Amino acid sequence: MSIEEIKKLGKNKCEANFDKLIKMYGDNSFSVEQKREIVSSIGRQNNQDRIYNFIKENMFKKNYMDVIYQMFRTTLVYYKEPRFRKLCEEMLAYYNNEVMNKMYEYKLAPKFDKQRLHKSSIKKPMILWGDSSKTMKNIADGDINLIFTSPPYYNAREYSDYTNYKIYLNELKKVFTECNRILQDGRFLIVDVSPVITRRPGREYASIRYPIHFDLHNILLKAGFHFIDEIIWEKPEPSVPNRIGGYVQTHMPLTYKPNCVTESIMVYRKNCDFLLDRNINMYTSSAHCTLNDDIIDRSNIWKIAPASSKKHPAIFPEELCRRILKYYSFKGDVVLDPFAGIGTLGRVAYDMERIPVMCEINENYVRYMKGENFYDDFSKTSN
Ligand SMILES: C[S@@+](CC[C@H](N)C(=O)[O-])C[C@H]1O[C@@H](n2cnc3c(N)ncnc32)[C@H](O)[C@@H]1O
Repeated sequence: MSIEEIKKLGKNKCEANFDKLIKMYGDNSFSVEQKREIVSSIGRQNNQDRIYNFIKENMFKKNYMDVIYQMFRTTLVYYKEPRFRKLCEEMLAYYNNEVMNKMYEYKLAPKFDKQRLHKSSIKKPMILWGDSSKTMKNIADGDINLIFTSPPYYNAREYSDYTNYKIYLNELKKVFTECNRILQDGRFLIVDVSPVITRRPGREYASIRYPIHFDLHNILLKAGFHFIDEIIWEKPEPSVPNRIGGYVQTHMPLTYKPNCVTESIMVYRKNCDFLLDRNINMYTSSAHCTLNDDIIDRSNIWKIAPASSKKHPAIFPEELCRRILKYYSFKGDVVLDPFAGIGTLGRVAYDMERIPVMCEINENYVRYMKGENFYDDFSKTSN
């Protein structure tokens, strides 16, 4: 029986169809997808007593979670009725499942509150000088529409020197927690990182390689974001340090060290109890909504050459910023980089008619950004 036919049984509400659906549910020759549709069609019938009995009888019996989700969905539809509410809460407690928790949250979220997705009070480009976990306290809740950044790669460059990796991760945690507060609900935080290796103290010691992106994932979850995508930034091989040379010479197993041509662009969304349409709907009637019509990156591998500057050892290529801004922000949006360096993101954002807010701790880099002369407020905030 096709999914369409099962759906039809659900739409034509009558006892005969109810009987048929219950019988089909007990027939193990149906696929998970069909079973899921059968449960959904049962939930559409008129006889609430029978629906209630069906769920009560089956909700804890071993089944695929996709089928259980449909039963749970029905309990949410009839949530106002105390007996269905009880089933709903029993299922939640029994399964302790993240999808069900999310369904419950969405269903019971207060009706969409326009105030929550307010327009930002920031109207002009800004530089905040100092430790961003502190300077960002000057920004009101939800005033930022997009965050794109590349944090210090532990102690890989001379502009950062943390006592140990734990302290480094803790500093990142502080910054990303503050990022969560100032980002508008449902908007994106995008972080560019790659594993780093620290120089070994002597030839007799092994070097340590740090998978920053793995550790950062848990930090971002705790800070109130959820994972959306990983985009791979691929650089041309001649532009990266050569690690493969030893193996090429010896072909000795275990000594293989590939040249690392990629960085992870980690895309996360701020937790909220609504779908993306609500974020998009803020713009559709506004003059700021101009749709992109140029080339589209169809896959999650972006080939972009790295950039270099005499002013800073680790800058973004402008092209990377341009793509992030195009895919994850609208014209007029306020865009933040909490580890701004010499403000590559800010420059591209300004050119693309966004409003940049750049946080940077290093005075020289701040001075450089100030030279761009489109920044309105050059404030020294306490470190
Ligand atoms: C990888 S660089 C960013 C470069 C930047 N994407 C660009 O294109 O210029 C990281 C920057 O974060 C800055 N930084 C480190 N800790 C900071 C903190 N707590 N607050 C603000 N900036 C910080 C460093 O000085 C460094 O310039």
